[in-house]
Amino acid sequence: MSRKVIIATENIGKFYEIRELLESEFDTFYSLRDFKEKVEIIEDSPFYIENALKKARKVGNRFGINTISDDSGLEVDALNGRPGVFSSRYGKDDNERIEKLLNEMKDIPWEKRTARFVAYVIFYMPQKGTFYVFYGDLKGYISFEKRGDKGFGFDPVFYLPEYNKCLGEIDLEEKNRISHRGKAILALKSFLNTDFFR
Ligand code: IMP
Repeated sequence: MSRKVIIATENIGKFYEIRELLESEFDTFYSLRDFKEKVEIIEDSPFYIENALKKARKVGNRFGINTISDDSGLEVDALNGRPGVFSSRYGKDDNERIEKLLNEMKDIPWEKRTARFVAYVIFYMPQKGTFYVFYGDLKGYISFEKRGDKGFGFDPVFYLPEYNKCLGEIDLEEKNRISHRGKAILALKSFLNTDFFR
C-alpha cells in the first residue's frame, strides 16, 4: 500500500493528533493546507458519516492519494445532543463556540452536565473506490469555566472526572490515548495491520 496519505482537514490541531497516532503507518502526511488547489467541501449532512465520506471522496479522487477524513462533534445531554454534528457551525471560532455553550449551560447543575465527544473516521482508497468507517467516543462533563490551553475546540470546557482535569490541560499524547478520535484512529491502525493490507 502507498505510504502517502492525506488527512482531509484544514484544522491543524486535528492534523497533528491524527499524524501522531499513525506515524508508523505512513511516510508522508498531507493536510489540505499542503495543496494550492482548494477543494470545496460543504458539510451539510445531519449525519457524521455522510459528511466524512463526502470529504474523503472529494479529496481522495481529486489528488489520487489514500485519504483519511473525520467528522466529529460534541453531544451534550442537557441540550438534547446539541451541538452534535453541527458543532463546527455552532459559532464562528472556538472562543465564540465555548462562550455560547457555557452561556446555554449556565443554569444546568453539575450532575446534568454530562456530554460526549464522538468521531467517525473514514479511510478512503481512491484507486479501489472503497472506504472503511471507524468510530470512537469519550464521555465527560461540561465544566463551568475554561481550564487549560492545550488541544482545540471545546477541550478547555470538557471535564474528565478520572483526571480531575479538562482536556485543555492534558498533553496531546495522553489525549490521543483516550479521545474519541484517538480510539477511532487506533481502530483504523489495527485494521491497516491486518492481512487485508499486506
Ligand atoms: P468537524 O469534525 O471538523 O466538523 O468539527 C467538529 C467540531 O466539534 C470541532 O470544530 C470542535 O468544535 C468539536 N470537536 C470535535 N472534536 C473535538 C476535540 O477533540 N476537542 C474539542 N472539540 C472537538
